[in-house]
Formats: sequence, structure tokens, C-alpha cells
Amino acid sequence: MQTYRIAVIAGDGIGKEVIPAGIDVMKMASSQGHFACEFTELPWGCDFYLRSGRMMDPDWLDQVRKFDAIYLGAIGDPRVPDHVSARELILPFRQGLKQYVNLRPMRLLPGITSPLGGRAAADIDMICVRENSEGEYCGIGGRLHAGTPDELAEQTGIFTRRGIERIARYAFELARTRPRKMLASATKSNALQHAMVLWDEVVADVATDYPDVTLRKYHVDALAARMITHPQTLDVVVASNLFGDILTDIGSAISGSLGVAPGGNINPDRTTPSMFEPIHGSAPDIAGKGIANPIAAIWAGAMMLDHLGQRATHDRILAAIERVIGDARIKTPDLGGKATTADMTEAVAAALAT
Ligand code: NAI
Ligand code: MG
Repeated sequence: MQTYRIAVIAGDGIGKEVIPAGIDVMKMASSQGHFACEFTELPWGCDFYLRSGRMMDPDWLDQVRKFDAIYLGAIGDPRVPDHVSARELILPFRQGLKQYVNLRPMRLLPGITSPLGGRAAADIDMICVRENSEGEYCGIGGRLHAGTPDELAEQTGIFTRRGIERIARYAFELARTRPRKMLASATKSNALQHAMVLWDEVVADVATDYPDVTLRKYHVDALAARMITHPQTLDVVVASNLFGDILTDIGSAISGSLGVAPGGNINPDRTTPSMFEPIHGSAPDIAGKGIANPIAAIWAGAMMLDHLGQRATHDRILAAIERVIGDARIKTPDLGGKATTADMTEAVAAALAT
């Protein structure tokens, strides 16, 4: 029997609540699909930092390389500055494991009410292909003259032809598989005359290999507005690291809740493990209450199984999620109900069983 070795970093806050939910659903789905998942927990995150002064073991890269995939909860704790927790765990993973694609579906599921008036499920069905390894989050820069009136900070964005080309190609390939075959490129070449002009040029070059895909470029501010006013005109969106980060929070908000939005950090070359996570954070405001919505984590688990080659199991988990959300009897508070994480997880498991 095929067995996948999966590293689990539940992390902080509600990560510790939604990841066990996702594991339960994956275990059940894998037994139905005649494969197995072997989950190995790694205790990294902010609690680990508060004990040891590090977010993870120094040999983390050697430890995680052995796995087929990584399943991540959320990282962040009010006692640890966010730039420490993100920069010392999430970003090293994305960069060190060459997970250069951040894939984020943004779909309004039937049964959820969008904060956008009069929108139905068919109106919001986008997927963002976010550049995940360079751009504005490359980490280069520094500060000088700290605490003095002359203090300065420099934060450099790095855009390479290779980096833009590979993310554009991934986005075109994905657009080609979807019914509408549309790709929106997020740019800002009017103001960022070096980086974003290169972005536009490389995207246009790659487009010549995909005559069947309709490419449109939008300045990112106009695209943000379009996601609100005309979401039905958007299909696949390709964006730089920062732009994609912001646009996908809009996308998940208009899809009803951050609690249903999954993401994959993917190395399409498969030389290192890819990492799947809900896109939400550790939600300290609700952590420990048992009311976090586990759907984003469960959906991220389904994306991980799809990446590992189990497309049919992915589809069955998605169908179970859609049944539970569509039925609308069981809703966590973020969706306007009173259900707990456990209630929602049991409902997905029950839908999977039938
Ligand atoms: P957040 O995503 O944790 O929370 C934003 C709001 O959405 C909160 O009101 C929260 O209760 C709600 N929410 C999020 N997920 C939910 C779920 N599954 N069910 C119900 N409600 C949910 O973002 P925030 O508050 O900006 O950040 C909190 C911490 O998480 C910070 O330390 C931040 O750095 C970290 N963070 C980590 C991420 C990651 O691990 N990839 C991503 C985003 C933030
Ligand atoms: Mg974000």
C-alpha cells in the first residue's frame, strides 16, 4: 500500500485545533482511498521559541527534506514579534524548500453568504498563483541609525526573469485547465518602473506559448477593486509575493471567511516537499475556545493529497465540505453559527462516510 510520510507542524493558537481536525479527515479519507498517511509531529513554533530561543531546530532543513509533504497550521503568538515568527519559520520554509508557488483557491461555497451583496457561488471562483520565493518578501535590506532622527530602513524587492517566468508558466498552465481559461496578471508598472515592467515583459513573453489563454493585466489597486465590484470576471490571478498576499485576503473575505480559505506552498519541480496550510493565522482572539472553523485546514489537507497524486480523494473531501457548508445546519461562529470545531469536523467526516 502506498504510504505518504507527512511532517505536521500544528504551530500556534488555533493551528493546534484545526490541524488535528484535518488529520482526522485525511486518515478517514485515506483508508477509503486505499493508501496511508504517516503523520510525524514537529513541535516547532512560538512555544518552542519561548523555551529555546529558536522557532525550530537548526537542522530543520535536513529533518523536513525526508518527508513527502508538510502540513502546517499557523504560526504567531502575541508574546513573540510577528516578524520573528514569520521570518524565522514560514519564510525559510518557502524559500529553503523552493516552494515558489503559493496556490490559493478563492471560492464562494454554496451555503455561505458573501459580504458582497447579491453574489452567488458562481460569481466568485478564482484562484491566485502567488510568487512565493522572491519579490517584496525576499528579506534583503537593513536598518541604520536605530532610534535616532536619522534612522532609515531599506527593504529591497528582488524580481528575476527566471522567478517571474516560472510563476507565469505555472499560472498559464493552470488557466489552461479551467473552463474559462482566463489569466489576470497583477502589476503596478506605472509606479514600479523597474521590477513591474520586467514582470509585464516576462508575462507577455510566456503568454505567446499559451494562445488558448486570455491574458489581461491590471494594476493591482484596480484589480483589488475589481475583485469587489466584478468578481465574476476573474479566474486565475498571478501576482507577486506582496500583491498576492493582499489580494488573497480580499478573496477569502469575499468568499465568506478566512476560516474556509486553504493554501499550498508548492515546489512544482518536486525536488523538496511542498507545504499545505490554511491561509489564516493563529487567531489569538479565539484560540483555546474550540470554535475555530476547521474547513480551511481540511481543504488544505485535501490539496496536499491531490499534490501527492490522490486527486479522487481530494475531490471526495471537497464534496464532503460542500455538502456540510451547503446544508448550513452546522456552522462555526465565523459563518454565523454556534457549532464547534469538533461539530464541524464530525459533520465533514459523516459526509465523507456516506
Ligand atoms: P488571523 O488569520 O489569525 O485572524 C484574523 C481574524 O480572522 C481573527 O478575528 C480570527 O479570529 C479570524 N479567523 C482566522 N481564522 C479563523 C478560523 N479558522 N475560524 C474562525 N475565525 C478565524 O490573522 P491575524 O489576527 O492578523 O494574525 C494573528 C497571528 O497569526 C499573528 O501572529 C500573525 O502573524 C499570524 N499569522 C500567521 C499566518 C501563518 O501562519 N501562515 C498567516 C497570517 C497571520
Ligand atoms: Mg496573508
